[in-house]
Amino acid sequence: MNIKIAPSILSADFSVMGEAVKKLQDCGADLIHCDVMDGSFVEPITFGGQMVKNIRPLTSLPLDAHLMIEHPKTQIKFFAEAGADIITVHYKACRKISESYLEETLRLIKSYGVKCGAVVNPDVPVENIFPVFPLCDMVLLMSVYPGYGGQKFIPEVMDKIKKAREYAVSIGKGDMDIEIDGGVTSANCADIKRAGANVLVAGSAVFNSSDWTGTISQLKA
Ligand code: DX5
Ligand code: ZN
Repeated sequence: MNIKIAPSILSADFSVMGEAVKKLQDCGADLIHCDVMDGSFVEPITFGGQMVKNIRPLTSLPLDAHLMIEHPKTQIKFFAEAGADIITVHYKACRKISESYLEETLRLIKSYGVKCGAVVNPDVPVENIFPVFPLCDMVLLMSVYPGYGGQKFIPEVMDKIKKAREYAVSIGKGDMDIEIDGGVTSANCADIKRAGANVLVAGSAVFNSSDWTGTISQLKA
């Protein structure tokens, strides 16, 4: 499968975000992962649709908006109109509202012509989102608890990657994107890819390195 590296701009210096985004593209990134946090679903607050709108003209790479927010339906319009190419929403945030909210939100994202995905935290069985696999362009498996960059990869998630890939294959969506987010390094990326993930988010691994091109190609190889 085509491996894609999605550096997370959460680890960027926000005062020079535009420069970081341009540099990521020059250094071989495949997507720009935008971590949106609301101070409620997760503790920190990062940015909203305006950031996506401002970086949109600076790169031709797909913008991958990871919404770690309550009531995601209320924000879809803003991210879609800002130019996000894919929007992912958390199972937990949706499930709090109603049983059908996740599916409704995914359909809303698609109604804007934007790709959609469902996200599960490390403690949520991936089976919980099997019912929406047919709707999803991507599923995102968190390998840390969301909120902060620079955490350690939770190894139990490896098994969920395998289950997700097997299930995708079983429903005829073997080429679906399976994204892993949190604690990805050059030391664990081979195992992550072998388990069946093909989109790797990397925040600190890229931003803390002095050679972004080298790090991105290492993660991809
Ligand atoms: C965590 C975010 C991640 C994070 C990844 O809540 O969703 O995207 O920035 O950062 P690293 O790669 O440092 O774990
Ligand atoms: Zn993320």
